[in-house]
Amino acid sequence: MSQLKYPYAKQSINDLDEKAVLEALKSPALTRGDFASSFEREVADFCGARFAVSFNSGSTALSAAFFAAEASPYDRVLTTPNTFVATLSGACQKGAAPVFIDIDRKSGNIDVEKLSYNLQTLSTRGKNIIVPVHFAGIPVDMQLLESHIKDLNTVVIEDAAHAIGSKYKDGTRVGSCDYSHITCFSFHPAKTITTAEGGMCTTNDESLYQKLLYYRNNGIEREPALFKEEERGPWVYEVNYLTGNYFMNELQAALGRSQFSRIEGFISKRKELVKRYRENLSGVEHLTFFEPEEGVDVAWHLFVCQIDFAALQKERAQVMEELRELGIGTQVHYIPLYRHPFFRKGARDIREYFPETEMYYRQALTLPLYYDLTVGEVDEISSALLNVIRSGKPT
Ligand SMILES: Cc1ncc(COP(=O)(O)O)c(C=O)c1O
Repeated sequence: MSQLKYPYAKQSINDLDEKAVLEALKSPALTRGDFASSFEREVADFCGARFAVSFNSGSTALSAAFFAAEASPYDRVLTTPNTFVATLSGACQKGAAPVFIDIDRKSGNIDVEKLSYNLQTLSTRGKNIIVPVHFAGIPVDMQLLESHIKDLNTVVIEDAAHAIGSKYKDGTRVGSCDYSHITCFSFHPAKTITTAEGGMCTTNDESLYQKLLYYRNNGIEREPALFKEEERGPWVYEVNYLTGNYFMNELQAALGRSQFSRIEGFISKRKELVKRYRENLSGVEHLTFFEPEEGVDVAWHLFVCQIDFAALQKERAQVMEELRELGIGTQVHYIPLYRHPFFRKGARDIREYFPETEMYYRQALTLPLYYDLTVGEVDEISSALLNVIRSGKPT
């Protein structure tokens, strides 16, 4: 990725970030200190949520959410196949059964109307855990999703790995948890802000918050008022669950705070670049973009085009290779999850049930999008793409 002139994603690190990390390095606590708690407070306030808990990755934040939701072998986890495996692996590790729902190609997101069919029958055993993914930063219509929920035991966990800063139609931020129990973010370097590796959950529910804290710290309770055993003393703690150690350290949190202080600039630059791509590529035959619903505010994480490679008589792999030779990195987000060996195990080929996802997957191509990219470079990448895809077409 680093040899390419334009990788598809890249972090933006400046002097202030460097200074912040050094300050954390010299501070008395290298982990579990003030940088992490301040970062959590800042993200919670920005999103409009009561609580936030930082983790060492977005994947861990999701696993923590499934732990807090008490995912079990009786449960079903309903989600989009157009995502990264971490969206549901924490639930499946606890035995929950994956149920994939086809997508809406206008947003790349779960088709909420199709989801509603699966919610019509009440579960006789466990609960439904719905995991909407705000793909590329485009918010799922959470109000509509909520209106389809009949069973009050249903848990909603938003995978907002792509969507820090996006706003729903009602103007509230993704992460407010107005329509969900927990929202999970990722701060991987490809994302809008980074902590190298890192993630965070937000929630408004105090008991879920407590469980997220347990999950992060080996299931340990240190508050004597909550002890179950009688032993007391300054050294005493109790283990209530077996989990692991999943803290974001202070160096990461300091980087996160420094990056987060520039989030509005990061988002507006990404919006400007997406606008330019769309101007450059609109009206091109066999090439379409997502059309987010009126009223949502998208903090773009990815710029994905849908290209009818078959009509252009050019293989996608060939297009990617020719762009790579020009120094331009591209990617495909995502291989539908049901195509992976883990989900194929014991199941027959289920691709026919996902016509929209399959069509999308055949056509998807992610172009470079990151803060340090310039509008001029977007022009260069757009022309290169057009030259490459047009060179396949018979004259
Ligand atoms: C949709 C989605 N969910 C979850 C994750 C996991 O985040 P992390 O890489 O921080 O573990 C990612 C990261 O790539 C993602 O894109």
